Amino acid sequence: MNLKALEKYKDYFKGKTYNVTTFGCQMNEHDSERISYLLEDLGYKHTDIREEADFILFNTCLVRENAELKLVGQISSLKKIKQAHPEKIIAVSGCMMQTSTAREMIEKNHKEVDIIFGTKNINSLQNLIFKYLETGERVVDVSTDLVKDDFVKYNSKNNFQAYVNIMRGCDNFCSYCIVPQARGREESRRPSNIIEEVEYLVANGYKEITLLGQNVNSYGNKSDFNVTFPQLLDKIASIDGLERLRFTTSHPKDLSKDLIKVMKNHDNICKYFHLPLQSGSDKVLKDMNRRYTQKDYIEKVKMLREEIPEIAISTDIIVGFPTETEEDFLETLNVCRKVGFDYAFTFIYSPRPKTKAYKLATIDKDIVQDRFQRLLDELYPTFYEKNKAYIGTRHKVLLESVSKNDPDVLTGRTDTNKLVHVKASKSLVGKIVEVDIKENTSFTITGDLVKIY
Ligand code: SAH
Ligand code: SF4
Ligand code: F3S
Repeated sequence: MNLKALEKYKDYFKGKTYNVTTFGCQMNEHDSERISYLLEDLGYKHTDIREEADFILFNTCLVRENAELKLVGQISSLKKIKQAHPEKIIAVSGCMMQTSTAREMIEKNHKEVDIIFGTKNINSLQNLIFKYLETGERVVDVSTDLVKDDFVKYNSKNNFQAYVNIMRGCDNFCSYCIVPQARGREESRRPSNIIEEVEYLVANGYKEITLLGQNVNSYGNKSDFNVTFPQLLDKIASIDGLERLRFTTSHPKDLSKDLIKVMKNHDNICKYFHLPLQSGSDKVLKDMNRRYTQKDYIEKVKMLREEIPEIAISTDIIVGFPTETEEDFLETLNVCRKVGFDYAFTFIYSPRPKTKAYKLATIDKDIVQDRFQRLLDELYPTFYEKNKAYIGTRHKVLLESVSKNDPDVLTGRTDTNKLVHVKASKSLVGKIVEVDIKENTSFTITGDLVKIY
């Protein structure tokens, strides 16, 4: 940080507030946690009310078009606020700012935006703010300043759960996906730095750590250290006092027996696997450049279930990829039926400029909408049945927050990532408890508190 500038603007930040709106995935959430830390380090205090904040930031995503449209709508609503209060600072960051088209659109159409930065220069944020205060002119900087192994500071979402980045970028170039453009080439963080960070968190009372990467299974592939993801996971799970370890996301093509073995060997590795399928058709999978077949996918699931019978499996599915025919779609339904997913994130294909699939003609909207509905009709009853199987069983649950709908109810997760509702005192947030499951819906399980750890 520029200490001279800090001295000069010390008083400026007193009593000032900030608000951050995050779009997109956990990577972006984690980046927002770093951004919040840097803003608080300057003296800003957080406010929930965006319109009242002195520093308003949007951390953007462009994985699907609707994420972009939402952002544009929300920034536009700030135009008036900026006109009435020109002293407020409006900033836009994140994946959208990494592509010139989206960045130029914001630069040109949104004069109310004062600071623009990307996914690779978050560490420079404080200096970018000083520069803006110094010149009063818009600052645009999407350079790269990240030190690969840095032990960055961030405000984790609470004091018992934290995200830890183990790698960034993606080299897979699935033909529909913009992430490799937005986040750059894959780079793995040094194991010793990751372990140091997790040890620090555990020593500070954190119970659950989620390791983040676009494709964690290829951790270490291009690095000078000889540590694979299963080896890293094994080391982290062995850290004394770590209660729960999660990771996301895994690409099916790289899911190995070694990984499953490590999961099986450690009680604190959550028995939950997010394994994006995208499509069940071999032809579409090939066109998507996913590099596995329906058979490979089903075999990996079988392997997971054979070794870890209680494991819960979730997935991502895209409907309406340009080359998807009715027969291809039926294959997707077929895999859903065979696997029986505990949960799925379902998306309608969205053409993204500069991806390989962008040039391909899209399918009629009504056909896609109809397939999407049929997919949900296939999935939801399975979610229900999977949750129903929990009735009459007892589970450890990490209580995360007070339910939005009922102040007497807390929500939490089993290690299989099931969303649990339980009547319990607010003071138990952050604690691991045992719950007897009594009821379920397709998306939640509900039960009685029986034991507090
Ligand atoms: N790296 C992760 C996914 C990141 S994006 C992985 O490979 O699993 C999260 C999900 O968004 C993807 O799994 C995919 O299902 C969906 N997605 C990505 N690009 C999309 C697009 N152009 N249209 C619709 N859905 C898309
Ligand atoms: Fe996108 Fe594929 Fe990389 Fe996931 S693995 S981020 S879907 S390119
Ligand atoms: Fe994530 Fe969206 Fe970027 S899904 S990596 S925030 S494009």
